[in-house]
Amino acid sequence: MSPLQIRDIDACVFDAYGTLFDYASAAARCKDALGNDWQTLSDIWRRKQLEYTWLRSLMGRHADFWHVTGESLDYAMAAIKRNDPALRALLMQQYLSLDAYPDAVEALRRVKAGGIKVGILSNGSPTMLAAAVNTSGISAHVDALLSVEAVGIFKPHPSVYQTAVDRFSTTANRICFMSSNGWDAVGAAAFGFRAVWVNRFKMPPENLPGAPEAQIGSLADLPALLGVA
Ligand code: LAC
Repeated sequence: MSPLQIRDIDACVFDAYGTLFDYASAAARCKDALGNDWQTLSDIWRRKQLEYTWLRSLMGRHADFWHVTGESLDYAMAAIKRNDPALRALLMQQYLSLDAYPDAVEALRRVKAGGIKVGILSNGSPTMLAAAVNTSGISAHVDALLSVEAVGIFKPHPSVYQTAVDRFSTTANRICFMSSNGWDAVGAAAFGFRAVWVNRFKMPPENLPGAPEAQIGSLADLPALLGVA
């Protein structure tokens, strides 16, 4: 394990989808209906969902993440040649009750018990985030749910990261930000957060401005990195 420690932190702020919540659990729960295509659909859905956030931000045409998630699902279903409104509705419904990753709950609990505030900062709409937090059972460990809807543009726009600085009334260099999305971790680092890339999917580093301060394989490694028991 790396001897590196991140100290002097007021708040730990977590990305939601892919970091705390397993977005692939939506399609996985519909394996019976999707058959062998479930993973393909899940991968395309996620890739398009992110592309649409970046493209809408560039176009200056914001719509909330629920809307974008629906439009990207429509693309993914078209890609696997399925036209099934009932299945679409079922997949969207699953997105409101995604599984938390097994390591997420305990990591949040230990960070909060260590006296560090806990926030979630996500593209997700307030309704989506509230549903995910409540159904996954992590609400007791979270102090603040922050949605990009407060600023009307998606990550990695700096104004999104600024909302966490404002909410916790601190400075960017006293916020530790965790994301499994490499582009989100570098965006947060470029903004000035102490960024930790939770490299769950064993991806190569991004070639973008901003370098995460640390990389961990799962959130199970976070308490040691922060020096909390
Ligand atoms: C989020 C996306 C990036 O939760 O996963 O903000």
